[in-house]
Amino acid sequence: MKNVFVIFVVVLVATAAAKKGWKLRQRQQCKYDKSAWSDCDTKTNTVSRVLTLKSGKEGCQQTQNQTITCDRFERLQAWKIKKAESRRELQEKKHQRKERQQEMKENKQLVKEQLERCRYEHSDWSECDQATKTVTRNFTLSEGEQGCEQSHTITIACDKLNRIQAWKAKKRDRKQNRIDEKLQMKQDRKEKRKLEKEQRLKCKYDKEDWSECDNTTNTVTRVMTLRDGEEEECEPIINVTISCSKFERIQQWKARKMERKNEKKENKWIPGLQNAHPND
Ligand SMILES: *[C@@H]1O[C@H](CO)[C@@H](O)[C@H](O)[C@H]1NC(C)=O
Ligand SMILES: *[C@@H]1O[C@H](CO)[C@@H](O)[C@H](O)[C@H]1NC(C)=O
Ligand SMILES: *[C@@H]1O[C@H](CO)[C@@H](O)[C@H](O)[C@H]1NC(C)=O
Ligand SMILES: *[C@@H]1O[C@H](CO)[C@@H](O)[C@H](O)[C@H]1NC(C)=O
Repeated sequence: MKNVFVIFVVVLVATAAAKKGWKLRQRQQCKYDKSAWSDCDTKTNTVSRVLTLKSGKEGCQQTQNQTITCDRFERLQAWKIKKAESRRELQEKKHQRKERQQEMKENKQLVKEQLERCRYEHSDWSECDQATKTVTRNFTLSEGEQGCEQSHTITIACDKLNRIQAWKAKKRDRKQNRIDEKLQMKQDRKEKRKLEKEQRLKCKYDKEDWSECDNTTNTVTRVMTLRDGEEEECEPIINVTISCSKFERIQQWKARKMERKNEKKENKWIPGLQNAHPND
């Protein structure tokens, strides 16, 4: 039974939609100029108007007399007025909303400007008031021009303050932890570098040439074998691996350094340049 009903409704909706579609197409295809409605004919209780074809395809009627009952006409007129009114109201509301938004925006800007202009010092939070379960904090103007509030008080629930303070403490702890970690890491790195330097001084290596850049790992390596140093303290063989790009940078830097050195040498070897003096 339920299914039958559902199908029935679907068919109804579909039929209505088809009819509406046909009407819409008809209206789009045949455009009419409409005369004014006649006065109500009290004998037939109808009003009528003449539609004259303005544009349209084949099959459109040249003229049409539209006749409706006076009651329907009245209802139609009333509905039209109501529609126009509600449209105007909607527009008015939209306009008001826009104005309100603009006002809010300006207010926000004003508050922002105030906050920038007016600087406050605040007291500590008061003890939790057991009666109201609230805490207060006073703000007094410390710096600012005209238009700044001299002082104001903020009141919040004690629970809220507790939560805020717990959150702040947690944040502070996390920050401190991060700082400690960083410091520790820095110290470790320093320690490592120091150890490496000591090793370098103690352990002398023969260095092989660098390998070609390995396309898959994007690294170059070279092997260093111990030439001179205590076996217990020095690694007998060290594989040094760095990225190809770092290798490139080092090579470039070395080349530049060499160039500068050569330039200096050349200048030194030009006779007289070092000691020449304009007044000589
Ligand atoms: C329309 O109405 C007018 C005036 O009542 C009449 O003269 C005319 O013949 C009507 N036309 C049609 C197509 O019914
Ligand atoms: C805030 O100011 C008022 C009035 O000056 C004072 O009674 C109150 O104790 C102050 N509160 C705090 C938390 O300093
Ligand atoms: C590595 O890259 C170079 C230059 O792009 C290319 O000529 C060479 O064939 C590559 N080698 C391998 C093993 O992919
Ligand atoms: C050094 O690296 C090369 C190439 O990756 C590898 O063949 C060799 O076994 C490594 N030697 C050491 C001592 O790690």
